[in-house]
Order: sequence, then structure tokens, then C-alpha cells
Amino acid sequence: AQRKQIDKLLALFRLTHEHLVGVRDKMRAELEYGLKKTTHPMATVKMLPTYVYGIPDGTENGKFLALDLGGTNFRVLLVKIKRGRKSVQMYSKIFAIPLEIMQGTGEELFDHIVQCISDFLDYMGLKGAHLPLGFTFSFPCRQMSIDKGVLIKWTKGFKATDCENEDVVEMLREAIKRRNEFDLDIVALINDTVGTMMTCAYEDPSCEIGLIAGTGSNACYMEEMRNIELMKENKGKMCINTEWGGFGDNGCIDDIQTQYDREVDEGSLNQGKQRYEKMTSGMYLGEIVRQILIDLTRQGLLFHGKVSERLQTRGIFETKFLSQIESDRLALLQVRGILQQLGLDSTCEDSIVVKEVCGAVSRRAAQLCGAGLAAIVEKRREDQGLESLKITVGVDGTLYKLHPHFSRVLQETVKELAPQCNVTFMLSEDGSGKGAALITAVAKRLQQSQK
Ligand code: BG6
Ligand code: GLC
Repeated sequence: AQRKQIDKLLALFRLTHEHLVGVRDKMRAELEYGLKKTTHPMATVKMLPTYVYGIPDGTENGKFLALDLGGTNFRVLLVKIKRGRKSVQMYSKIFAIPLEIMQGTGEELFDHIVQCISDFLDYMGLKGAHLPLGFTFSFPCRQMSIDKGVLIKWTKGFKATDCENEDVVEMLREAIKRRNEFDLDIVALINDTVGTMMTCAYEDPSCEIGLIAGTGSNACYMEEMRNIELMKENKGKMCINTEWGGFGDNGCIDDIQTQYDREVDEGSLNQGKQRYEKMTSGMYLGEIVRQILIDLTRQGLLFHGKVSERLQTRGIFETKFLSQIESDRLALLQVRGILQQLGLDSTCEDSIVVKEVCGAVSRRAAQLCGAGLAAIVEKRREDQGLESLKITVGVDGTLYKLHPHFSRVLQETVKELAPQCNVTFMLSEDGSGKGAALITAVAKRLQQSQK
């Protein structure tokens, strides 16, 4: 009887081919809505212009600073690029962003960032160098140009006040002025998906898509200019940051949502928003698992029916734990060990169930993400009028990198849902910092030629 109850619950997370085709087609429709000039009432995929017009051509050259804010780590980097793809050297330092800063005031957040830059410049002996800087800011921004963009809404774990509807480049400039200690030339504002795409495109020119499966979930791709209604130009291409995390905010995927997804949403900083992201990214998968485990425990099917305080603690199942629990090399005894570390006393049967739960949640996430990606590659294929398309996707993010099955299931799903596309996945080894520096190099060159 117990087995039946558990199976019934897990069945809620099983998606059929038809479900996935439905997700792909709805995503495709939303990509199109988002490209329209007048915001369609159903448009929740923002499709933001990035003012990045092409991939690197190898002539990029110079020394750049890059900031990388919004993922697991906040990083400051120095990137040295040599013309002709000869070499890229990177030096970086990771800094912590304490929770009270992530959720304090905007001024405090930007003062903290500038403090970290200052430390880095000291460390590298670069104060006074006045270097061009690329700012990777992994949140939805409505950009007016490559170096100007208004934060539309915080996502993931950030909620600093007085930033939404503000130009974050200007906020950074003002914080640098307040400190009055060094000067920087902020040249480009970049989403992490775009930085990742550029990092990979430097090695492989057929990389025209960037995908992040990490704390958050998002994708960007090179779109035909003529399809972007907001842009007057008709020639060439521009990279579009889809912000697909908001897919489903109009209720269009409610049919596949479970009560556990709704519980996770209720406990989040942005209720009702980023519904697709909440089903597909690292910040939330562990929370879905936790909600299921609580329910199973209440039903008396786990942990001796006792919902411990620990189990009621938000955020205990980080991506790295899910990844460990699902690793095939791990004996059940070790799974128990991990649960023990998490303060959860489990029997051997408990650990089998926990592993199954994690598997169901992460598999659904990878499939959903694959369905989204299938929509993008199919769009690219059709827009170019091709029978078959060969394309590379640059990927980054802890979920993609650490999880033992996520990347495989994602790739299988794309194959299944976009059979006419031959998609190569390229892991970004250097994060989005390298791409940010490349974009900065191009922007700087343009700036100078326009002077
Ligand atoms: C990193 C990028 O490599 O991947 C970040 O440099 C990005 O900018 C990150 O946000 C995404 O992964 P995660 O898992 O750290 O959110
Ligand atoms: C969130 C952000 C998006 C970012 C993604 C991955 O969805 O809104 O801008 O690309 O997380 O970090």
C-alpha cells in the first residue's frame, strides 16, 4: 500500500511526450509574442534586446575587468585577450555577498560590489589603471544600449530595495563615485546567458545560443533583426535574452504544475513569478523535493512519520546534495550519510524513497528545460528555411555541471522534440567572464570608432 501511495505521488512528475510537445509549442508561441512591439497580454517571456550584434571574430584585444553577479558566486575578474585567438588569460577572485546585502538596500549592495572591486584592484596592483569593464548582471534588464539597462524585476535570491526600474550601470557608476578612490569605464551590461554564449562562440563560431541551468534558468540566442519589432534595423542579427524563467506566469503550464510547485512558489521571494524557473533550476529543485518529503512524512511514509524541524527548514537541499544523492556510484548507505549530514535520520528504505523523489524532480526539470530549448532551435531552423540545422549551445550553471543526469536527459529531450536539429552542447569552462570581456572589447572598439 505504501508503495502505491509513493508511486501515485511520483507519477505527478512524469511527463509524457505529449506534455513535452505542448510545452515546446507554448514556449515557441511565447518567444514570438515577446518579439512583438506592443506587449501581448499573454507575453511572459520578455525577449529582451541585448545590443550584442555578433559573436567574437578573433580581433578582440586588450585588458578588461569583468564583474559577475547573480549566480552562486560573485566574481571580479581581470581578462587579458590577445588578438587572433592566441590566448585569453584570466585572474579572478570570488567574493561573498551576505544575505543581508542581497536583501538590503540597493546602495548597500552596490557599495559592497565596489568594495570588492577595490579589494581586487589592490590585490592585482591595478588601482589607477582606468580599465574598461563588462558587468555581467544575471537578472532581467530592459537595455537601451549596450551600457544602459533598467532592472525590470529581481529574480532568484535577490531583493535589494530601490533597484527595480533603475539603470544598474548608473547605480554602479554612482557607487564608484561615492567611494571616490578609483575610476572605471563601464562599457557593457551583460546577461550571464549572453556571456556564456560568447565565451563558447570564441572557440566555436556556430555557437549561437547560451543556456544557463544553475541557480536560475534562462537562455539567449541570435535572432534575425527583422523579427525583432522593437528594432528599426532589418539587417543582421541581435542576441535576445529570452528570460524564459517567466514562462508560465500567465498560467499556460498550470496543467503540469503540482501542489508542491505551488508550495515552493508560496515560500519564494517572488510569488507567482518565474514559474518555469521554479520547476527547472537549482535554487528551487531542492525545495520541491523538501515539500514532497514533508508530505510523504505526514502520510507516515518516511522518517517514522515525524516531520523534523530540519525538514521544515527552507533551502537545506542545495543542488550539490541533490547531485550527490542521485549519483549512481553512491551506495544507499552513503545516501543515508548525506541525509544524516542534513540532519535527517533515515532508514535504508527512507533513503531509497528520497533518491526516487530527487530523480523524479530533476528528470522533470531537465525535460522541461529541453522542451524550451527545442523551441528555440526549431525557431532558428525555420527562420533560416533549413531542412536541418547544425547549431552549438554554450552551457553553464551548477545544475548542468554537477548533476549526474540532468545534462543527459536535457540533451535526449532536445533530440526527441527537435529531430531536425543537430545540437552540440559546449560547456563553458571559464564562466561568463571571458564572454563579458569579449563583448566589452567589441563595444569599446565601436565606441572609439564613433568618436
Ligand atoms: C557561471 C557564470 O559560470 O554560471 C555566472 O559565470 C552564472 O555568471 C553562472 O550566473 C550560473 O550558474 P550558477 O549555478 O552559479 O547560478
Ligand atoms: C534568472 C535571471 C536571468 C538569468 C538566470 C540564470 O532567471 O532572471 O537573467 O540569466 O537567472 O542565472
